[in-house]
Amino acid sequence: MSRLKRLAILGSTGSIGCQAFSVIQSLNQPEPRFSVEALAAGENLDLLVAQINAVQPKLVAIKKSSDIARLEKILGREWRGEILVGEDGLQAIAQLPSADLVLNGLVGAAGLSPTLASLYAGKTVALANKESLVIGGHLIKRALSEGNGKLIPVDSEHSALFQLFEGRQFSEIARLVLTASGGPLRTRPLEDFSKVTVAEVLKHPTWQMGKRITVDSATLVNKAFEVIEAHWLFDLPFEKIHTLIHPQSLVHGLVELIDGAVLAHLSVTDMKLPIQYALTYPERMATELPRLDLIKHKLEFDPVGEKRYPAFRTVVEAGKVGGTLPAVVNATDEVLVQRFLNGEIPFTGIAQGIQEIAEQHEPMKNPTLEEILEADRWTRERASMQIG
Ligand SMILES: NC(=O)c1ccc[n+]([C@@H]2O[C@H](COP(=O)([O-])OP(=O)(O)OC[C@H]3O[C@@H](n4cnc5c(N)ncnc54)[C@H](OP(=O)(O)O)[C@@H]3O)[C@@H](O)[C@H]2O)c1
Repeated sequence: MSRLKRLAILGSTGSIGCQAFSVIQSLNQPEPRFSVEALAAGENLDLLVAQINAVQPKLVAIKKSSDIARLEKILGREWRGEILVGEDGLQAIAQLPSADLVLNGLVGAAGLSPTLASLYAGKTVALANKESLVIGGHLIKRALSEGNGKLIPVDSEHSALFQLFEGRQFSEIARLVLTASGGPLRTRPLEDFSKVTVAEVLKHPTWQMGKRITVDSATLVNKAFEVIEAHWLFDLPFEKIHTLIHPQSLVHGLVELIDGAVLAHLSVTDMKLPIQYALTYPERMATELPRLDLIKHKLEFDPVGEKRYPAFRTVVEAGKVGGTLPAVVNATDEVLVQRFLNGEIPFTGIAQGIQEIAEQHEPMKNPTLEEILEADRWTRERASMQIG
């Protein structure tokens, strides 16, 4: 790359944020190609301090003002940047004038406002936060058409499809296929589902990710979110977006063209690859990652089982209805996943709760950001009292 690319990272202490750090460290050898101008994190101050010391950003945002004193104490006098807090902090980093690219690795609905702020500020956003498109896809489309911003997907499946779409005409696309590993319960007898433990659900067979997305991979809510994400990213109707279970997670996306040819994207199962592509786009750079050895693998594909993954259909249908319903489904899932992790509800309570709360909601068409956030608040209250 010809000149230093300046990055702002939202969610730097999370799974995506940490993997981005490791990509940047390796791309910055032998000479620096990226600088990190700003970091935003939630509550993991010890990790944040290590990151601040490693990259010396000018600006840092944390979630709670009550953590500022502790952060300043751990940092000592070595670092002279500025600390901001909460939504204001996220907004400032999302629009930071000196950043060329904003990586949004926040988890949940909290990611939407910063994505919009970045796009209206004309930034290129490497988007891992899929909830931005799930709950506010129409707002993001508007921001893209009204501002000078750009989106580069980080989700492995969407990165794969983005690469397959490059240079293609929209009229050539017959349909696309997203693949799903099927998660840790893919072969588990259905009768056991009500008693599966948190530890079993967090043991993802192919990917190492944050807790919420790992639970969402077991319910397939994650894949339903990705269907909605693909609908907005690639401007395709839901009928042209298909999903297959592919336990090896080596084929990340397929594009079927109108003449019947099918293009596939394959790679080793490692999020560092799509993160790197989003950071270096449109250039490609060599990596030390292991190479795909197809002789070692059998590639299998299966349909999505409706009984095993009941939430998949509910969430895709919510995406088709649109308006405030995807925000309701997302917030229900965020709360119920956390309640499952806390041991308050059984695994089966997640799909059941999503269905019940979606049925109680009267969706509002074409909502504003404030109306989406209001639907999110309405839902959180209900979902925190939902009997599992
Ligand atoms: N992990 C993956 O491999 C993967 C793959 C594909 C897509 N994605 C998507 O990428 C996004 C991030 O996933 P993840 O697995 O990296 O999540 P994660 O490990 O839970 O990390 C989330 C990050 O967001 C920060 N955060 C959360 N709420 C915040 C708030 N209100 N203000 C400031 N920071 C906040 C957390 O900070 P603290 O930890 O400091 O509290 C953490 O840095 C999700 O949308 C997920 O679906 C992830």
